[in-house]
Amino acid sequence: SEKIRPLIAGNWKMNGLVHSLSEIALIAEGVEGHSQRLDTLICPPATLLMSAGAKTAGTTLAIGAQDCSSETHGAYTGDVSAAMVADSGGRAVIVGHSERRQGRGETSADVKRKAERAVEAGLQAIICIGETEEEMLKGATQDVLLRQLQESVPAAAKSGAVVIAYEPVWAIGTGRTPSIDNIAGLHAFIRTSLIDLLGEEGRGMRILYGGSVKPDNAAEIAFIDNVNGALIGGASLKANDFLAIVKAF
Ligand code: G3P
Repeated sequence: SEKIRPLIAGNWKMNGLVHSLSEIALIAEGVEGHSQRLDTLICPPATLLMSAGAKTAGTTLAIGAQDCSSETHGAYTGDVSAAMVADSGGRAVIVGHSERRQGRGETSADVKRKAERAVEAGLQAIICIGETEEEMLKGATQDVLLRQLQESVPAAAKSGAVVIAYEPVWAIGTGRTPSIDNIAGLHAFIRTSLIDLLGEEGRGMRILYGGSVKPDNAAEIAFIDNVNGALIGGASLKANDFLAIVKAF
């Protein structure tokens, strides 16, 4: 398969206060030596978007959000629009994380609309998909992933503007990961499905793996065909861990 420039993205979830900006500064400093080879992104909570953007100005570390509204503007109390994320210096936004699909009842239709708003605002949309443990045990993983792709990825998605993140729900924050063979098989399946859905654009679209990526398993995951980067939760909170993963790719 063709060489796709990797993206290593950190999702801080609901962690991070103003003092955490020092960790972002350390990450920005540390990724500099790797910027020829790959892209890096940290998604802090929305409250830190502007200050993180200011802290990383002039570096290659991009800042992004963890979610955005499916609406453009108006009477949606508590929502943050994609345009607001871009206006705050964000360059990307995660949509459809399982903590929003399962945890907050978001449907694939919602996720698709969020991705559309993100792309309209000039943001890269990182669309998350993944099966639950129950679905995995039933042998339904491929059906679930295909359906999520069909229903969450905008029909006009371009490989520069949309990234897919495969996160098995049961691997998130658990220290459990699928076997290397399973990751390889599912990423190949996602690639084929993206080509079916999007044609040529699907060939160059990045497919990240997420779920318990740590410094000690990053190298073997990085080596898998059709793994074009990682989406990292817990290990993105500490500069040393995040940078060790960046080095492995
Ligand atoms: O979005 C990344 C995340 O869900 C993975 O979390 O802590 O298992 O790396 P973690």
